[in-house]
Amino acid sequence: MWSSRWLFILAAAGSAVGLGNIWRFPYITGENGGGAFVLVYLICIAAIGVPVMMAEVLLGRAGRQSPINTMRAMARASGAPRAWSLIGWVGVLAGFLILSYYSVVAGWAVHYVFRMGGGAFEGADGAFASQAFADFLADPWQVLGFHTLFMVITVFIVARGVSAGLERAIRVFMPLLFVLLAVLLGYGVASGGFAAGFEFMFRMDWSALTVDGVLEALGHAFFTLSVGMGAIMAYGAYVPRQASIASTVTTIAVLDTAVALAAGLAIFPIVFANGLEPGQGPGLLFVTVPIAFGQLPLGAVFGTAFFVLVSFAAITSAISLTEPALAFAVEEYNAKRSRVAVSLGVICWLLGVGTVLSFNVWADVHVVGELTVFDFLDYVTQKVMLPLGGLFIAVFVGWVLPKTIVGSQLGLREGAATLLWSVLIRVLAPLGVLAVFVYAIFYG
Ligand code: PFF
Repeated sequence: MWSSRWLFILAAAGSAVGLGNIWRFPYITGENGGGAFVLVYLICIAAIGVPVMMAEVLLGRAGRQSPINTMRAMARASGAPRAWSLIGWVGVLAGFLILSYYSVVAGWAVHYVFRMGGGAFEGADGAFASQAFADFLADPWQVLGFHTLFMVITVFIVARGVSAGLERAIRVFMPLLFVLLAVLLGYGVASGGFAAGFEFMFRMDWSALTVDGVLEALGHAFFTLSVGMGAIMAYGAYVPRQASIASTVTTIAVLDTAVALAAGLAIFPIVFANGLEPGQGPGLLFVTVPIAFGQLPLGAVFGTAFFVLVSFAAITSAISLTEPALAFAVEEYNAKRSRVAVSLGVICWLLGVGTVLSFNVWADVHVVGELTVFDFLDYVTQKVMLPLGGLFIAVFVGWVLPKTIVGSQLGLREGAATLLWSVLIRVLAPLGVLAVFVYAIFYG
């Protein structure tokens, strides 16, 4: 059990806040034209992500096992078919697939710790920073090396099952991340790009938003909150009985959204002050932030610290990606934690090689349509598996699980809150996902 509600908040926030907020959110906002996309994303967080996250915590705490066995137990308690445990299985698979490419991108961040520390970006301009990133990606051995390093660190931590130290670290590092984002924001104001960056993020230009952009916003809402695959359900198994799920989940979602918006507000001013392309794709973070720190006093120190924090945020998310599989293997087969961690790491590392090569040797190898291995993994997990997982979790908790279990977990009494919850979990969340899917299939 987490020693208090706050420890769960820290762990869940550690899972939620990661590359999704700092790397992914800014670049997909750039690709999808800014404001309108951001608004759709915020709506998806509030109307779909938050209720599904509450459902996951509720299931986890009611079942108190790994997601697969929790779903089995909850299906049994509802007199429903055992097949509901498929939610857990699909989640385990999604965790593997996501971790495989997550580790590669986290490796980019680790690489930049060394690059910034070496002072490589002093006085750098946009052209220099763009070239530096392109050169790095073009070298598969380097990218592979940092992917390997990140995976080894993750497996090491997961194998030892340290949580106490991690919680303390999250408590220190999370505020520091905000401080450094604020430094970047200050740079944005001083460099004169702030107004343009702000406008890009919050001006509603609906013509810039495509059907695929809406699906992306939905998928990202799941990804950034770590919901739809059982990671939060696994953590939910340790939430103390008396903690309020609604307020706990709201706290985590607000924190997660704040980090994403802060990252966007830090990055877009740099984009516009330096004449860069907002829609340039996955390199956005790595092309913009070094320019800012390259021009700031003590930039090498701050820049190094920044990428240390990003790498740390990625580790706490990566750990949670392994949790559904790990918890199941340990509980079902009495497997040794360290053995499972190593096997899992090896599989994800191997799968990750496909992503490493997607940016160089295999750049022209397409799995389907125009999608590289990386694009494909990203698409399948983010835009299909997580929303589908979320849809089924919402349907299960809203329509299948006995009201007595739900009510006692949420501490609901009849009234407005109960009504709001029912509408969200039974109607809005499932129909929202379904509507976006249908729309994407027929008009995408
Ligand atoms: N939420 C993490 C991020 O935003 O970087 C990524 C993630 C972690 C997704 C754990 C899913 C998950 F289960």
